[in-house]
Amino acid sequence: MPVLPNIPFHIPYKSIKALDYLHEVLIQNNAASDAYFHQRCKNWFAQNQHISNMYLCGSCTDALEFSGLLAGFAPGDEIILPSYTFTSTANAFLLRGCTLRFADTSRARPNIELEQILPLINQQTRAIALIHYAGIAVDMDPILSFAKAHNILVIEDAAQCIGARYKGKYLGSIGNLGCISFHTSKIIHCGEGGALFINQESFASHAELIFEKGTNRKAYKNYETDFYEWKSIGSSYGMSEFQAAVLYAQLQGLSDVIIRQLKYWNLYHENLKELEANGTLLLPDLPDYAQINGSEYYIVLESELQRNQLQQHLESQGIQTTTHYRALHRSSFYKNRYKQQLINTDYFEACLLRLPLHFYLTEQDVLQVCKSVIRFIKN
Ligand SMILES: Cc1ncc(COP(=O)(O)O)c(C=O)c1O
Repeated sequence: MPVLPNIPFHIPYKSIKALDYLHEVLIQNNAASDAYFHQRCKNWFAQNQHISNMYLCGSCTDALEFSGLLAGFAPGDEIILPSYTFTSTANAFLLRGCTLRFADTSRARPNIELEQILPLINQQTRAIALIHYAGIAVDMDPILSFAKAHNILVIEDAAQCIGARYKGKYLGSIGNLGCISFHTSKIIHCGEGGALFINQESFASHAELIFEKGTNRKAYKNYETDFYEWKSIGSSYGMSEFQAAVLYAQLQGLSDVIIRQLKYWNLYHENLKELEANGTLLLPDLPDYAQINGSEYYIVLESELQRNQLQQHLESQGIQTTTHYRALHRSSFYKNRYKQQLINTDYFEACLLRLPLHFYLTEQDVLQVCKSVIRFIKN
């Protein structure tokens, strides 16, 4: 019989202000998209993260698909991406008929870096779509300068990264396009939600058309034209005002959330260090250029068996943990199309375990988890 967790893996952050904001949406006359709370969220990003062109979307999946449409990818184009990621990173480009080229992660952390990307580059390469696993930045400068020199786009899937930075720059705002998630599993959320950051000016006007379902409705709303009509292929990616109202309340709490997440992240790191020193565990490796948001704390065990046994042991103590991505290149959907071996991806899939980390944890919870992990490893 599974024991109900005393220490759940995740509890979504709640902001009381959301109730007042939702009430405002209910009584105003536009609850669709791109109205009052959209603007307030966008102003928040402009003021706090210097992001001047962005779209609030129904999900990060939407934002990724939006990026694929905006980039104008077509069959024959190749996209380099990690296999150690969520399906949405891949679906967005498969939907455009692109060929996927999966890069292995580095050994030190579950990110793809330039070293793993270079062998996959060829004449058909149109983009590198990368994730910053657990909000820990990829080393972007070498990738950006290579991509620029070879006319290749860089798309950041920064799903887990709100508030995390690379050399001081917010993740998602560094590549040509960047995507963020506000899914309920993230440190702040609006149920389902996401954003696309348009970091390359030349995409700006086409993005407006795609966002408005392929019409020039934006120009109409700005009194620049007497009517709006079909101008481009487009879609319906916009977040509703209900989501934007909740998101605005959550954005206002972000700095408090990050302080709390980092406090527990550091507590795990301090207390589990001795196991890493023994060589029995791999802990998250933080490069100098990465400023994290503490979105998740993971440990990497020596084998899948050991990882699964530890997970069961923690579960029996009422501590809920989760593994993470299943390698895309070996999935039942894709394995017949991709034969390459990705050793480090296999390693993280088999051996990585995520420990509870959320706003409502206590110091005592973290210490209890650490004690249970240490006791298990030492026995
Ligand atoms: C790397 C990555 N990209 C995209 C997504 C999809 O995000 P969403 O649920 O907001 O569509 C996820 C989901 O967690 C993810 O981990």
